[in-house]
Amino acid sequence: MWWYLLWWLMICNGSTALGVAIVNRLHGCRLAVWGIHLSHKIHYLLLVVIPCVTLVVPGWFAPGLLRGGSWSELHPSWWIFSAICAVSTLIFWGSVVRRHCRRTPVQQLTIQTQQRDIAEELGGPPVGHGPYQWMTQLPGNEVFRLQITQREVNIPRLPAAWDGLSILHFSDAHYIGSLGRPYFERVLEHAQGLSADLICFTGDLLDDIELISWLPATLGRLQAPLGRFYILGNHDWHLDMDAIRQAMNDLGWQDISVTARQIERDGHVMHLTGSEFPWIDHQPTYEDVPETALRILLSHTPDNMARARRDGIDLMLSGHNHGGQIRLPVIGPVYCPSRFGCYYSEGLYFESPTLLHVSRGLSGRHPLRYGCLPEITKLVLRRG
Ligand SMILES: [Fe+2]
Repeated sequence: MWWYLLWWLMICNGSTALGVAIVNRLHGCRLAVWGIHLSHKIHYLLLVVIPCVTLVVPGWFAPGLLRGGSWSELHPSWWIFSAICAVSTLIFWGSVVRRHCRRTPVQQLTIQTQQRDIAEELGGPPVGHGPYQWMTQLPGNEVFRLQITQREVNIPRLPAAWDGLSILHFSDAHYIGSLGRPYFERVLEHAQGLSADLICFTGDLLDDIELISWLPATLGRLQAPLGRFYILGNHDWHLDMDAIRQAMNDLGWQDISVTARQIERDGHVMHLTGSEFPWIDHQPTYEDVPETALRILLSHTPDNMARARRDGIDLMLSGHNHGGQIRLPVIGPVYCPSRFGCYYSEGLYFESPTLLHVSRGLSGRHPLRYGCLPEITKLVLRRG
């Protein structure tokens, strides 16, 4: 009986972890909307079906392990499935331990954080009329609690001319209407108050193309002396990308998804490029870029890290994973749409020569945040 229960728990853990790993990796690929919805449905169905079938079939009927049946009579297919679940369980807990052991890279020199309760500031939760607005009312949901993070980071190759350069990085606004426009207006007021030299947005602007009308009152109000740069994300890819780009360009934002931009100060070049890969099959090239140029890449998904390292990128800014949105006690984030699972869920990563910052984003298609606050970040670059 006890052995059976332990075995059943291992099957539940392993099959769930395997399903989550497959869903995460599928969502890190270029997948059509119907494919995403289908994979969700199959995944949620299996989350219920596998534990039930494991209880009923080998537990009650054949060989009836709950009723004193013999393990030797267990069908070989169950042993194969058990082995797969056991491996999956080990990998899952290994990744949890690895996440707990991960330290912030030494490239982070200082960090300051503060929280703002946007609902309190506005005199009530800025709930909209979008399809998931009811989720904002769930107990403990922290979707209106903004974290403002300021990090001073060391960039080993930073030219002297760019020492002290500040970048406001934010991502994943996901305008769908569940969070009202006043939420974004107030968040971006706080962003403007950080007075950064340049502003970067790393995609997933809209989930409802009608809300393109929100742009002038939100992103359109941001200003920075060295410019505002953006790329789009997979949720924009499902909509009319040309219309979104046109609206952003009309507001003075610079699209660097295809055309790189260079800014020069005291003879030192800062080269800004973008990547919307794998949703848009275009990767930046660097043939004509001076060796000494500071290379900054905006990539919606952090999965492009290996390519960034090969291209000698100094600083890569990403979003997409939302920090997992829900971080469970001990386990941490579970769902991250990445080929690397939740490894690049949020924060700073250094893999020479590239420093990667992954933003948790402002929102998500589903307005759920538990242990994973929405954030805006100001990065101040310092010389190595
Ligand atoms: Fe997103």
